[in-house]
Amino acid sequence: MTTLGTPLSPHATKVMLLGSGELGKEVLIALQRLGVETIAVDRYDNAPGQQVAHHARTIRMSDPAQLKALIEAERPMLVVPEIEAIATAVLEELEAAGVVRVIPTARAARLTMDREGIRRLAAETLALPTSPYKFCDSQAELQAAIDGGIGYPCIVKPVMSSSGKGQSKIDGPHDVPKAWEYAMAGGRVSHGRVIVEGFIDFDYEITQLTVRALGENGRVETHFCEPIGHVQVQGDYVESWQPHAMHADALARSREIAKAVTDNLGVAPQGKPQGLGLFGVELFVKGADVWFSEVSPRPHDTGMVTMITQWQNEFELHARAILGLPVNTALKSAGASAVIYGGVDAKGLVFDGVDAALRVPNTELRLFGKPESFKKRRMGVALAFDDDVELARVRAKQAAACVKPRAA
Ligand SMILES: Nc1ncnc2c1ncn2[C@@H]1O[C@H](COP(=O)(O)OP(=O)(O)OP(=O)(O)O)[C@@H](O)[C@H]1O
Ligand SMILES: [Mg+2]
Repeated sequence: MTTLGTPLSPHATKVMLLGSGELGKEVLIALQRLGVETIAVDRYDNAPGQQVAHHARTIRMSDPAQLKALIEAERPMLVVPEIEAIATAVLEELEAAGVVRVIPTARAARLTMDREGIRRLAAETLALPTSPYKFCDSQAELQAAIDGGIGYPCIVKPVMSSSGKGQSKIDGPHDVPKAWEYAMAGGRVSHGRVIVEGFIDFDYEITQLTVRALGENGRVETHFCEPIGHVQVQGDYVESWQPHAMHADALARSREIAKAVTDNLGVAPQGKPQGLGLFGVELFVKGADVWFSEVSPRPHDTGMVTMITQWQNEFELHARAILGLPVNTALKSAGASAVIYGGVDAKGLVFDGVDAALRVPNTELRLFGKPESFKKRRMGVALAFDDDVELARVRAKQAAACVKPRAA
């Protein structure tokens, strides 16, 4: 049985988000609607989620001492990571000591913190199909991995990076030094390890949102959302839509893979509650063949489309699942999302054309409220619904294009 408290009272149900960007903001809103007391943590002040939470805290979450001190001071019931770059050893320590529950589990946060933990789990432990890969610590090792079997074309990524940062494609030997340099400059933490992956010539890629939630009998059940198709440019998502039409065999295989990964990541240490929440499983599909790419043990950027397509969007599903509440992954309408980039490096942007954007039929907008913009920073998203998913895509992009961010 789930009992929820009253925020700002001695019986509050307290949840701490580690990372408070646009995805965390929506999780926080979903929690607020259930009367949960929320603490939004980020590395900078006035992050999107901090603007809607009861409490805002600014720390370096990759710093073990700062993270431990904050969790021990606040004593939330749940700690919900929104980003990867967290001192996960502290989460494991505090979870083991019974101080907090980590969503889905501290182990899952550690394994998905960099590309190595999750890739080795998927390919080596679970024997799931992935691209061929090698981990390398120098340009010489990278060249040797390519020559030793990965071949051309291939993709190089820093082990610690997201949104395509530091990632590039290598078509031949002449690209290797450039790709190495780019990865070194783009990695999140300055340790020079990369993964090189054989290039998968897929027909399309999807995100399979997968929810581990408690059933009436108190056992964990796995629920699947309709598949989300998306387009990535330089490793960063620019548009997504749902549902993505798929052959039944490819869909069944995708869900089998998603179930295997999320079951494993959801396993809790002896005596601890099972790992609950929503996962974004990224898969490549060619005909009936499916490859596992990566997984977020939390809402996924391409899943923002569910804010217009599902009765319970991915953020509400996450909030419900982690609180032990029932979920419903049913589709409300087909629809699409299109990203709005900052386009400029500036603080305190203004957005022209919001009215024009919302005059495009069946659309909605989210402007995230990020205090500072960069050219390639995601500042908002346009959403559109329509029975015809292609029309929804056109309209989402049309609406996104109407919004013109500029320096004030
Ligand atoms: N081995 C591969 N073969 C073909 N395309 C790939 C491969 N690896 C990555 N890509 C392309 O690059 C995109 C980004 O890769 P990946 O998801 O690994 O990076 P990321 O930095 O974690 O991105 P994000 O944080 O946005 O999910 C993929 O969605 C896919 O379009
Ligand atoms: Mg990805």
